[in-house]
Amino acid sequence: MSEQYGVDPQFLDALLERETARFERTHQRSKKLHERTEGSMPRGVPLHWMANWPTPHPVYLSGAEGAYLTDVDGKSYVDFCLGDTGAMFGHANPLVAEAVSRQVHAGTTTMLPTEDAAAVGEELSRRFGLPYWQLATSATDANRFAIRIARIATGRDKVLVFNGKYHGSVDETQVALQDGRMVPQPGVAPNAVDTDRTTRLVEFNDVDALEQALSERDVACVLAEPAMTNVGVVPAEPGYHDALREITRRTGTLLIIDETHTISTGPGGYTRAHGLQPDMFVLGKSIAGGIPAAVYGMTAEVAETFERYTAKDGHRISHAGFGGTLAGNALTLAALRTTLEEVMTEEAYARMSALAERFERGVTEVIGKHGLPWHSTRLGARVEYLFSARAPRDGGEAKRFRVPRLEAAIHLHLLNRGVLLTPFHNMALMCPATTESDVDRHTAAFAECVAELVS
Ligand SMILES: Cc1ncc(COP(=O)(O)O)c(C=O)c1O
Repeated sequence: MSEQYGVDPQFLDALLERETARFERTHQRSKKLHERTEGSMPRGVPLHWMANWPTPHPVYLSGAEGAYLTDVDGKSYVDFCLGDTGAMFGHANPLVAEAVSRQVHAGTTTMLPTEDAAAVGEELSRRFGLPYWQLATSATDANRFAIRIARIATGRDKVLVFNGKYHGSVDETQVALQDGRMVPQPGVAPNAVDTDRTTRLVEFNDVDALEQALSERDVACVLAEPAMTNVGVVPAEPGYHDALREITRRTGTLLIIDETHTISTGPGGYTRAHGLQPDMFVLGKSIAGGIPAAVYGMTAEVAETFERYTAKDGHRISHAGFGGTLAGNALTLAALRTTLEEVMTEEAYARMSALAERFERGVTEVIGKHGLPWHSTRLGARVEYLFSARAPRDGGEAKRFRVPRLEAAIHLHLLNRGVLLTPFHNMALMCPATTESDVDRHTAAFAECVAELVS
């Protein structure tokens, strides 16, 4: 009997069992390292997410270069996960590696700017259209700081986010809709933040809900990905961004666009590709070629608030709530400058997008061949497939379209054949070093997996 997502559950169970056994047989060194690391790190990993793969234990790596990984058992992989976007411009990019090693020998962190600061600021302004920029060490931090600035600028407390969003571990955003009510995000223990006071949560693409949520004029900012990417991809419907901008402007609410994932769209992100006009802009993860960094941009009006707030009675205030001792350090700036000027080029994006198109074509052909009610979406260099016949309209619908056991089966099957997808959903990213034959390798493995699941 076939479930509504088109796969026989018995075949799914059998595939999971067989592929798990195969993984265990072929990853003995990783298993030993996992057992050892468990002695000093919960779940045997330095960041608990690294244990969230559909494998009995993580793969421990010995190297990463370009679009490829090698593990301690001597296996190699085509990497479409790319550090969940952190390595979107390729592992060990030689240009970034050179800039970083040069800077390591010239000092990494000093609490003073280098010449790279001017070049980076100018390039960010040119590329993304906002005139003023600051650095942070992660996109989570950049989002926190952007929210704080929005609160200062508007004198309001609340933040509006969309159901199914992820903007990092920002307390105000750790909420979900359940039966139409906002509740703490499942799995997030109650914390000191009273989200009823700090947060409004609505579904993406719902103009009426947005209008209503902002109508009291007590929301400081809307924090949004331009297309949602953390519950599968939820594209913005035609006209939604115009409505979002018009309503935020009319209600005096600042609009923060978080492009941490949607930078896959093109060299100027979704913002430039679609002519968005945010008040603030956040981008992290990949922006310094794999070195921890994030940037947040702002309009001249917002920058004026920022300057005013960080100085009082002629004195500069350090503990103003925006910081990170290592933010904007010389090493980060060197990596950021090189990535912006030499790696995130129009040519690199053209290549990556063409590969993503090829990837999507392969997936769509396999889906079509078996008449499965699945679809895929592409955002430039990023492709996502989901177990529904059409793209979800909002985060709630996207969550209902997820089938965790099916995701796990596909990921595990692919991993055993040397192909890595992002573990959290079916997300694949192309980097400048990805090749057509890497893409075809995914298509072949995916076709084999699907054939087993449906026959
Ligand atoms: C859209 C978006 N914003 C922010 C973040 C947080 O990034 P980081 O974990 O690097 O702080 C993420 C992480 O997945 C994200 O997807």
